[in-house]
Amino acid sequence: MSPSRPVEAFGPEHADVYECMYRARGKDWEAEAEDVARRVRSAAPGSSSLLDVGCGAGAHLEVLSGLFDHTEGLEPAEAMRDRARRRLPSVPVHAGDMRDFDLGRLFDAVTCLFTSVNYVRSVAELRDAVRRMAAHLVPGGVLIVEPWWFPERFLDGHVAGDLVRRDGRTIARVSHSTRAGRATRLEAHWVVAEASGVRAFTETEYLMMFTEGEYREAFTSAGCEVDFHEGWLTGRGLFVGVRGQGRVRT
Ligand SMILES: C[S@@+](CC[C@H](N)C(=O)[O-])C[C@H]1O[C@@H](n2cnc3c(N)ncnc32)[C@H](O)[C@@H]1O
Repeated sequence: MSPSRPVEAFGPEHADVYECMYRARGKDWEAEAEDVARRVRSAAPGSSSLLDVGCGAGAHLEVLSGLFDHTEGLEPAEAMRDRARRRLPSVPVHAGDMRDFDLGRLFDAVTCLFTSVNYVRSVAELRDAVRRMAAHLVPGGVLIVEPWWFPERFLDGHVAGDLVRRDGRTIARVSHSTRAGRATRLEAHWVVAEASGVRAFTETEYLMMFTEGEYREAFTSAGCEVDFHEGWLTGRGLFVGVRGQGRVRT
């Protein structure tokens, strides 16, 4: 086995093992997407279009595209975006950054799931991202954001380890998460064994830890009324906002 190399989070090597590993850890993108669709329709019955921001490889979008007449995705990482496009050839998946995107159309719902919003770098960028997402909503449209842990709930020094065997491959991942100022630094070490050999790589992610108040303020300053739904399927909860009738300041 060659020595472990650092690779880019959500780059080609990470994208190759990402979904398989999280599924083995119990992540249920299908149940989550169905639940999100129910929450959208409970807040805005008749919603028929949805944009998933930071859609990754499109696992939520795959289900959502069967539940809404029109769906689109936005994803900056090429390797993840390519997977989403291959998986959903009829769903437009745009390259773009949640902090400054403009798709030139409005949706009944915008979602930002599995902590994609926490890859921004500051509270100001959280506000920018929420404002851009809200600016893509029709008046009365629904914005659902799944946050990373609030600072007071984060377990500093948390370790995890998993092994998955699938499609002739054995994949191991161990991770260590620490507090780095306002962020979580998550370092994951991967070993992938397959017929051609064994390779190892390390990938490091920084997820900002915003307070509940900071999310709420980002929603209200973007012209949305917001509720926090505790728990949810991941344990981290969901922010569910509804855009008011006024124009969102861009
Ligand atoms: C943990 S993954 C979640 C992906 C997907 N929502 C899912 O459920 O599998 C985080 C995603 O956020 C994306 N991301 C990071 N920074 C972003 C930004 N500034 N704008 C949009 N997406 C971003 C990453 O490329 C990655 O695909």
